[in-house]
Amino acid sequence: MSKMNDYIHDVFKWNKELRAFLESENVDENNELWQKMNRMTDIMEGIQNPLDNHELLEIQNYVEELHADMENYFVKRQELGSVYVNPPQVAAGNHSLPPLPYAYNALEPYISEEIMRLHHEKHHQSYVDGLNKAEKELNKARKSGDFSLVKHWSRELAFHGSGHYLHTIFWNNMMPKGGGKPSGSLLKAIEKYFGSFEAFKKQFTEAAKQVEGVGWAVLVWSPRAHHLEILQSERHMLLTQWDTIPLLVLDVWEHAYYLQYKTDRAGYVKNWWNIVNWKDVEQRFMKASELKWKPF
Ligand SMILES: [Fe+2]
Repeated sequence: MSKMNDYIHDVFKWNKELRAFLESENVDENNELWQKMNRMTDIMEGIQNPLDNHELLEIQNYVEELHADMENYFVKRQELGSVYVNPPQVAAGNHSLPPLPYAYNALEPYISEEIMRLHHEKHHQSYVDGLNKAEKELNKARKSGDFSLVKHWSRELAFHGSGHYLHTIFWNNMMPKGGGKPSGSLLKAIEKYFGSFEAFKKQFTEAAKQVEGVGWAVLVWSPRAHHLEILQSERHMLLTQWDTIPLLVLDVWEHAYYLQYKTDRAGYVKNWWNIVNWKDVEQRFMKASELKWKPF
């Protein structure tokens, strides 16, 4: 009996969710799907306990039929490119520049509008373009079977792909009036592994200042070791510790600070701490730390 109740409860919930979904997808009210949905709602609302087997079977059949109809409808619409039932996958060569989550001048005086504009519109865009180009060329290679340039395009894929993904994290890792300290489980994890927030900050600062040439300082969560770590990445991808998830990243390429700070990378790194968006880092950490491999 309780299994039957559970089933009816699930169908009730499903019915409600489907109605909300059809509404959110602007499915025309004259569409057959709505008529079927309405009949389904009528059936559900008319249920009186206890259900006999015949009624239960009727509901089951109706649910299955409606499910198939919904699927057909949305598969057809998806083919036309008007709707995505699941979050869309980025097709090969189809990456795009994410908008900045704040105005170009929002991080002043720590990072000037001029730098932000150049960094986002020119540099980040060029990584997006480079990544798209590499993906398309590799797609072509897969189709033709000619992989003679795979080494070159794989390098481009890593360079521009890392550039695109890291910058996408970087913009959200910052905010106007940021800074301070993180809180909650991220703070606890920092203190547990690095000893204290101050020790972490000092190591991250030194790691950023001492990146060989151009690159990044990166705070990562290791799903394997189940602890945080600070890494340096030369360029975008050299020395990268794969199988880690970037949480907090700091761009120390010249284009990120040179116009304003000239050769004073240390000054830029020091000031950068005033615009860290710890809420964003916390959210990334909460999500990323759910991922735990078997430790070795
Ligand atoms: Fe950059």
